[in-house]
Amino acid sequence: MVVVAILAAGRGTRMKSNLPKVLHTLGGKSLVERVIQSVEPLQPQRRMVIVGYQAEQVKTALEPIPDLEFVEQTVQLGTGHAIQQLLPHLEGYNGDLLILNGDVPLLRSETLEHFLQIHQENQNGATVLTAKLPNPKGYGRVFCDEKNVVQQIVEDKDCNPTQRENQRINAGVYCFRWQDLAKILPHLQANNAQKEYYLTDAVTQVAPVMAVDVEDYQEIGGINDRLQLSGAYDILQTRIKEKWMKAGVTLINSSSITIDETVELEPDVIIEPQTHLRGNTVIKAGSRIGPGSLIENSLIGESVTVKYSVISDSVIQNGSRIGPYAHLRGHAEVGENCRIGNFVELKNSKLGDRTNAAHLSYLGDATTGTKVNIGAGTITANYDGVNKHKTIIGNNTGTGSNSVLVAPITLGNDVYVAAGSTITEDVPDDSLVIARERQVIKPGWKMKNKELK
Ligand code: UD1
Ligand code: CA
Repeated sequence: MVVVAILAAGRGTRMKSNLPKVLHTLGGKSLVERVIQSVEPLQPQRRMVIVGYQAEQVKTALEPIPDLEFVEQTVQLGTGHAIQQLLPHLEGYNGDLLILNGDVPLLRSETLEHFLQIHQENQNGATVLTAKLPNPKGYGRVFCDEKNVVQQIVEDKDCNPTQRENQRINAGVYCFRWQDLAKILPHLQANNAQKEYYLTDAVTQVAPVMAVDVEDYQEIGGINDRLQLSGAYDILQTRIKEKWMKAGVTLINSSSITIDETVELEPDVIIEPQTHLRGNTVIKAGSRIGPGSLIENSLIGESVTVKYSVISDSVIQNGSRIGPYAHLRGHAEVGENCRIGNFVELKNSKLGDRTNAAHLSYLGDATTGTKVNIGAGTITANYDGVNKHKTIIGNNTGTGSNSVLVAPITLGNDVYVAAGSTITEDVPDDSLVIARERQVIKPGWKMKNKELK
C-alpha cells in the first residue's frame, strides 16, 4: 500500500521566472507532470501534490490529470514543512509514503518500482534514493556506514569543506513508513543555513533507514536553474532518439533533430537534419521528413515527404509531397497523393486526393474535390474584415494563375478559371469562367501619340 506525495510548492527562485518552477516544460510536458507520470505504474492509492507558490496556476495546469489531490502549503518553510501539511490528510493511514520532489523529471518508473520494492522487502522505516555524482554541487550529501545505513544528510549550504567532497547525493526521493514519519514531523527544527524545516532531518530519526543508489545517475538530476533544465532536455532527447532508432527509425544528423516524448513514429520513417517533431504528432511508415521542418500535433500518413515546411494541427494522407516552404496550419487536411509546393499556405482547408497546389497560394477555409489543380498564385479571399467565409471547389477543377476566389463561393466540377480572374459568383459544372478585362491592342499607338504632341 503506497501513497505518493509530490513537493511542488516552491517558487524555484534560481529559475528567475514568473512561472512556478514545476510548470516549466521539458520536451512537451511540465516537470511536475513528468514526476506524476513516473509514479503511474506503481498504482498508488492516493497521489497528493503539495502546492503553494502560485498554487492556482499549478492546479489549473494539472486539472486534466484525474484523481490528484492538492494540499496547500501557504508559506514555503522547507521540504519538511511541506510534508507536515499532509498530517491532517493522512490521519490513521497505515502504509508507506513515497515522496518525490516535483523538480526531478527524468526518473524512470522501473527505478521507482525497484526502490519501493527494496523499501518494502526490508521493512525499512525510511529508504532514500541516492547517487554518486561526478559533480555533486548543490545537492544534499548522504553519509552512510558500510551497510548503507544512512547516518546523516547534510545540505550543500550546510556542508563543511570535507563533507562537501562526498559525491553521494540525495536524489529527493524517499519512502517512509508513514506512522513513523508522522511522529517525527512535528518536532523538526530549522537550525540550518537556510532556516528551513528539512525533510532530510527526518530520515535519520527512523529505523531501519537505508540508502539505495540509482543505476543511472542521469535520472535523478534536479532542475533548479535554466542550465539544469537544458541539460535535462539533452538527456531526454538522447533517450527518445535511442528508443526510435531501435524501433526502426533513421535519424540523419540526430543531434540537430528534436523530438517530443509524445510523438509516435513508425518503422522506416526517415527524419532529416534540423527537423523538430512536437506534441501529439504521429508519422506513419516510410515517410521522409525534413530537412528543416517543424511538425506539431499532426498526423502524417505513409510514404509522405515533407521538405523545409511547417505543419501544425493538420493531417496529411498517404503518398503526398509537401514543400519546400509550405505552411499548413489550423486543421488543414491533405488527401492522398497530393502535392503542396513552394510558398503555399493552407489554413483550415481540406483537399481531396490527387489535388495539387504547387506554387504561391493561400487556401483558407476551403474544401476541394479530387484531382483539383490550384494554379500558381491562386488566393482564397476568405476574410471580409469581420467574418471568415468558405470556398468550395468541385472535382477535376483547375484555377488559372493569379486567380482570386472571393468567398463565400462555390466552383462546380470540371470548372476552369481563366488566369488572372477575380471570381465573385458561383460557377456551375463543366464551365470556363473568365473574369477580367479583355485585352485591347492599339496598333501604331506610339507614333500617333508623338504626332499629337
Ligand atoms: C532538496 C534536498 C536535497 C536534495 C535535492 C535533490 C531538502 C532539504 N533538500 O534540495 O537534499 O539533494 O532536493 O534535488 O529537502 N518545496 C516545497 N515547499 C517548500 C520547499 C520546497 O514544496 O517549502 C518543493 C519544491 O517545489 C521542489 C522540492 O520541494 O519541487 C525541492 O525543493 P528545492 O528547494 O529545489 O530543494 P533543493 O535545495 O534542491
Ligand atoms: Ca531542487
